[in-house]
Amino acid sequence: MNDRSQAPSLAQLRHHADRLKQVHLRDLLTDVSRHALLQVQAGPIHADFSRQKIDAPALTALEAWAEACGFQPSRHGLATGAMLNFTEGRAAVHPALRGRFGPPDVQASARFERTRMAALVERLRSGELRGFDGSPLRALVCLGIGGSDLGPRLVADALAPDGGYPVRFVANADPRELERALHGLAPQSTAFAITSKTFTTRETLANAAEARAWLREAGCPPEACADHFIGITAVPEAARAWGIRHEQLLQFDAGVGGRYSVWSTVGLGVATACGMPVFGELLEGAAGMDAHFFEQPLTHNLPAVLGLMSVWNRSLLGHASQAVVPYAERLALLPAWLQQLVMESNGKTARASGIDAGRTGLLTAPVVWGACGTTAQHSFFQQLHQGPQAVPVEFLLVRSNGGLTAHNDERQRIVLANALAQAAALALGRPPLAQTTGHQDFPGDRPSTLILLQDLSARSIGALLAAYEHATFTAAAVLGINPFDQFGVELGKQLALQIEESLQPGRVQAHVGPASGAAGASAGNPALDLATQASLKRLA
Ligand code: F6P
Repeated sequence: MNDRSQAPSLAQLRHHADRLKQVHLRDLLTDVSRHALLQVQAGPIHADFSRQKIDAPALTALEAWAEACGFQPSRHGLATGAMLNFTEGRAAVHPALRGRFGPPDVQASARFERTRMAALVERLRSGELRGFDGSPLRALVCLGIGGSDLGPRLVADALAPDGGYPVRFVANADPRELERALHGLAPQSTAFAITSKTFTTRETLANAAEARAWLREAGCPPEACADHFIGITAVPEAARAWGIRHEQLLQFDAGVGGRYSVWSTVGLGVATACGMPVFGELLEGAAGMDAHFFEQPLTHNLPAVLGLMSVWNRSLLGHASQAVVPYAERLALLPAWLQQLVMESNGKTARASGIDAGRTGLLTAPVVWGACGTTAQHSFFQQLHQGPQAVPVEFLLVRSNGGLTAHNDERQRIVLANALAQAAALALGRPPLAQTTGHQDFPGDRPSTLILLQDLSARSIGALLAAYEHATFTAAAVLGINPFDQFGVELGKQLALQIEESLQPGRVQAHVGPASGAAGASAGNPALDLATQASLKRLA
């Protein structure tokens, strides 16, 4: 089925959406069989979709529509390494990094590189790798941005033991982030991992250059700088040209998208902070979720239903954004990671050729945002409860958080009780109190999903992240989007290079014309608009 507007069940689906907009969640939640239907389990993760504005007939129609849109062949394509990234002419091979799916040759090369990474991790953690004066390298600073940062940073933050091998992450070109990361570290005993799939990313290479300058200022001879750097990339020749030595150069396949890369050698920071066995368990958790996603029928398929619910909320019910609120500090960085995963993958309007380019009116990709509960309750939850538009929320709860359960720790009881309370309050609301003027009304009818993790082990976190990857893939598959390119980031990058040129010392006046009037544009850099030129003048 190519044209989603012609999918036999789309009209039906729209009818269900219109029907359910009129039904309050309070009423939907009284139906016991509906509740049972909307529970899905996958390994250590349980998802309760019963607070979504959906019922059995609508769910059946949604699944039929997904099938008509080619969910099965798309999923098979991901499992077998088909050329799904059709705009860049390559497969999306991240499942091959963690188990038995994806192209066998990529599985083999990933195993090979993982063995090399394990050796490097061992040499770092044991103190065998030495800095320029012979000191053991006792800390690792990871330089990377976007997908080369968010996944490893999240997983290390979630799993690294306190007091273990110090690993810090730096993404921003704002000098403050590197400055803060280097504080308290000694140059002679600090290693850097430059992680960049392309090895061209401006921010990362600028930070790497600054790191090298920091070592040089501390007396590192030019020829010894390479001792301190590890390179992780899909373009090894670029890393070599930068000065990375063969034995400290780790590769991953070009078919692994940055935001899907934590499972590859990009996970070096995780493995260094947590140890290789923990990294292995992370991969096993993801592999378990792969088996579930690729083998379970749609109805019992947790990532697929999660993805379809987001399409239901965005494309059928019209909710423009989606909040994710983990009730666990260890998952504090999940919203930032998920934001890139969903918005860089599916924040597109172009469809596969032959697919109606948006004329169906099916809007794609919600804005994804969020923060940790219960803290977030004291900031944006006011709007979730009483704002003019409903925002679907994904609540994440952990049954056993570092051994603490609702039964044996007061604070864990507070956390869990609050998550359950918020989900209930959003759904049920509260009937208007007598003699109030609306200020204390809770309309309710605000959808949410409750995702319950058994624990915060590496396996569970691997399963969770893989589930979100597959949910994002499912949404893309039914909407006809290629989730594996990101052309939308290019224009801004190109302009930034031009503007950076104009910001060089002494160049601003040469590149900038008068701040106002049409003549300004022609007298200055013709490619830059008047507003940019005026800003450049103010920055000079
Ligand atoms: O700017 C977006 C992006 O291309 C992401 O897709 C990617 O994760 C990030 O930049 C970093 O890219 P690289 O790993 O090539 O440095």
